[in-house]
Amino acid sequence: MKGGYDHFMQKEIHEQPESLLQTMRGRVKFDRSPAKLGVDPYQERRVTLGGLTEHVSTIRFGRRIMLVACGTSYYACLACRQTIEELTDLPVTLELASDLMDRRCPIFRDDMCVFVSQSGETADTIQALEYAKERGALCIGITNTVGSAIARSTHCGVHINAGCEIGVASTKAYTSQMVTLTMVALALSEDSIAKRARRDEIIDSLGQLPEKVREVLLLDTEMRSLAQQLMKEESLLVFGRGYNFATALEAALKVKEVALMHSEGILAGEMKHGPLALVDENMPILVIATQDRMHAKMLSVVSQLRARNARLIIVCNKGDTGIADLVSERCRLIEVPQVVDCLQPVVNIVPLQLLSYHLTVLRGMNVDQPRNLAKSVTVT
Ligand code: UD1
Ligand code: F6R
Repeated sequence: MKGGYDHFMQKEIHEQPESLLQTMRGRVKFDRSPAKLGVDPYQERRVTLGGLTEHVSTIRFGRRIMLVACGTSYYACLACRQTIEELTDLPVTLELASDLMDRRCPIFRDDMCVFVSQSGETADTIQALEYAKERGALCIGITNTVGSAIARSTHCGVHINAGCEIGVASTKAYTSQMVTLTMVALALSEDSIAKRARRDEIIDSLGQLPEKVREVLLLDTEMRSLAQQLMKEESLLVFGRGYNFATALEAALKVKEVALMHSEGILAGEMKHGPLALVDENMPILVIATQDRMHAKMLSVVSQLRARNARLIIVCNKGDTGIADLVSERCRLIEVPQVVDCLQPVVNIVPLQLLSYHLTVLRGMNVDQPRNLAKSVTVT
């Protein structure tokens, strides 16, 4: 069942090149053929989501898109919020399902509510779905489980098709959720001439993604050696911003829930508003500084942390000379391949999933069944 791996979590991390292909199969048309006479080259690349086709225009003319989820699924929404905003020009709000219910958040008939859940059975998300349905919103599901409560109760949706996920810690579902949310943004912006170049860039990068993930999985041995260095630590801070704030939160959640080590994901823009007080020469700090619009700001974060003699681990793109110039012998680099900015979180999380996996094994914790946790949280 584990296909030669020791644990389901490990198997599911390594399955990601294939699960991402399955998520896109039959849905994304990557056209790289030379331009044909009389054929609009832009019509050659497209995303077709069978479950949304009939609803695309309703969603386009909605008042706002509200993404609702819990845990890792919420972080997938956070990672893709900017892409949906950018491609649809609609306001996109994010809601943790339990908080939406605690606040009894206002929802209206012209709201488009998207419920993201791997299991499709999470009680908090189901409650929020029933609440939004009562208020007349269009309810869209993004689930991994065909026939699940959320798949059945939503008006329409998309199955992420990542394949069965058994390890309690969500790994391959997270990357497939991000790809699905990106495909939704692409499907919703198909008629926009102004977004064509950007859409093409993203679709081309989707085509390369499984290979890039395969490449980043080769960091396995390096992540094990990093885990050996960190296994006795009490805490790990993770800084990110922009698209990779979600990566910081998700990496910290993985370290907490499986390795049972305290870890905190921090928005790098908030560093000076409190977290900097924790920085000294002992606290390990992981910084996600891949090359996107936030890069210059992340280089400045690295400089400020270095000035305090912090122990740094930096996720950066291969060949990034800006980072190379800044690092000292106390700094460890995790070099990842570059993809388009909005898909970089899919690549960046993979070595951090491997790190949390190896930390768990080395610390002697239960990888697939962390204490006190269940795969589907069916109570609120
Ligand atoms: C569907 C088939 C797939 C087939 C393909 C061929 C299913 C489950 N999928 O995939 O096997 O190869 O057509 O064209 O039979 N839905 C919800 N809520 C959710 C998720 C999905 O209501 O949370 C609905 C969708 O609106 C749709 C149906 O479930 O009506 C199937 O969704 P999805 O599997 O994503 O559709 P296709 O990719 O078209
Ligand atoms: C973390 C994890 C949880 C789930 C959360 C929502 O690794 O698995 O945080 O993401 O319980 O579950 P789903 O996506 O099934 O609604």
